[in-house]
Amino acid sequence: MSNQQALPEKLLNWVDERFPLTSTWKAHVSEYYAPKNFNFWYFFGSLAMLVLVIQIVTGIFLTMNYKPDGNLIPGTNISVAFASVEYIMRDVAGGWIIRYMHSTGASMFFVVVYLHMFRGLIYGSYKQPRELVWVFGTLIFLILMAEAFLGYLLPWGQMSFWGAQVIVNLFASIPVIGPDLSVLIRGDFVVSDATLNRFFALHVIAVPLVLLALVVAHLVALHEVGSNNPDGVEIKKNKDPVTHIPRDGIPFHPYYTVKDIFGVAVFLAVFCAILFFKPEMGGFFLEHPNFDPADALKTPPHIAPVWYFTPFYAILRAIPSFLGTQVWGVLGMGGAVVLIAFLPWLDRSPIKSIRYRPTSFKVMLVLFLIAFIGLGILGAMPSTNVRTVIAQILSFIYFAFFLGMPFYTKNEKPCTPVPERVTFSTSKQQMMFLVYVAIAIGGAYLFAHVV
Ligand code: HEM
Repeated sequence: MSNQQALPEKLLNWVDERFPLTSTWKAHVSEYYAPKNFNFWYFFGSLAMLVLVIQIVTGIFLTMNYKPDGNLIPGTNISVAFASVEYIMRDVAGGWIIRYMHSTGASMFFVVVYLHMFRGLIYGSYKQPRELVWVFGTLIFLILMAEAFLGYLLPWGQMSFWGAQVIVNLFASIPVIGPDLSVLIRGDFVVSDATLNRFFALHVIAVPLVLLALVVAHLVALHEVGSNNPDGVEIKKNKDPVTHIPRDGIPFHPYYTVKDIFGVAVFLAVFCAILFFKPEMGGFFLEHPNFDPADALKTPPHIAPVWYFTPFYAILRAIPSFLGTQVWGVLGMGGAVVLIAFLPWLDRSPIKSIRYRPTSFKVMLVLFLIAFIGLGILGAMPSTNVRTVIAQILSFIYFAFFLGMPFYTKNEKPCTPVPERVTFSTSKQQMMFLVYVAIAIGGAYLFAHVV
């Protein structure tokens, strides 16, 4: 070590001799070569990390004043847990914004993660060699759902209580172990204070730890194989012979750190607009019955989960009881999530990106999207005979997309030749995308009004 080195440099050298700081920064940031044609869809991975941090930090502050106690305050029908949330909202300095950040963050987490998964679907990012990136992603999705479900019980409102009641009762329909399993989950024969305590423990520490570990595994697996891109071209196959750097790659830092900061700014603008103007989002982010304290003697007329669970809830309700058991609906709902993990092996096409896949795949993808959004809308509504039939048709399409995939992707030929090198999307493609989004939103609005 030369004596002429500046103090920060000396300090860095001292650390590097004991810990791989600079080499890790280089391998994962400043010398991680990402394809140069990333587009809008590549914002959502970094945004998911941002929301994860928001949830952890706001969660820590909420825990400082929240009390996981289902017992009633003497002389009232309000539990200590419910009252502690009201205390945070009204009396704790800044409590209201911390709570709204956490409840809005939960919904935004799913918005971001659904868009992130959809990106994987359209660009074939789950395909070889990124199968494990995808499998870790699906596990993250599963754990995220568990985390959101556990957290939803904590305010101990009407929907917290009855939602937990409905979902935990589902486990009781599993043959042989079901009844004991549901008692184990609740810690009691009914949803009670014991349930609240264990859900709290799982929500604040056990599940977030698993989530963090999975996110690390997800990123390590991604950096081992390198990122995909909107053309589905493997940039590592075309390297400069001297530098061994992919010809279509650019260093993640500064190029994509700057791009991601722009994404963060736009996201935070939307996030703040929701926080300040529509934190309940008309009952979609914070359901109205949850402003009433939990009452074990008063079932709400319509029990519906929060919007991000509704596609899977609609599948559950669409599958009828058979041979005197409800377990088929539970299997259908679980299967709908588990199937996602098997995409890398269900899709047999060698073509990755939607840009070059034939019409057959595009049609199936659009049908799948319609089915998923349609199920999401139906799952939020009380069921009627007509709605049940529509939900059954849409569930069929959902499963056909996955289970039919080995057949309809088997002999795929590209619609236009897959390029050797990455390309850039044209403004026409981007305009078309906006048109598709407008049609999808309009269609969903009409659908909700007609059914
Ligand atoms: C907490 C949730 C998650 C976080 C923080 C996260 C984070 C990230 C980040 C930072 C990237 C690299 C940047 C990018 O490509 O956008 C990435 C890539 C990826 N993620 Fe996730 N992710 C999450 C959930 C998921 C889920 C649920 C799936 C799928 C089931 C998934 C599948 C993928 C795939 C396939 C890639 C590679 C994409 C490509 O190279 O084109 N991720 N993720």
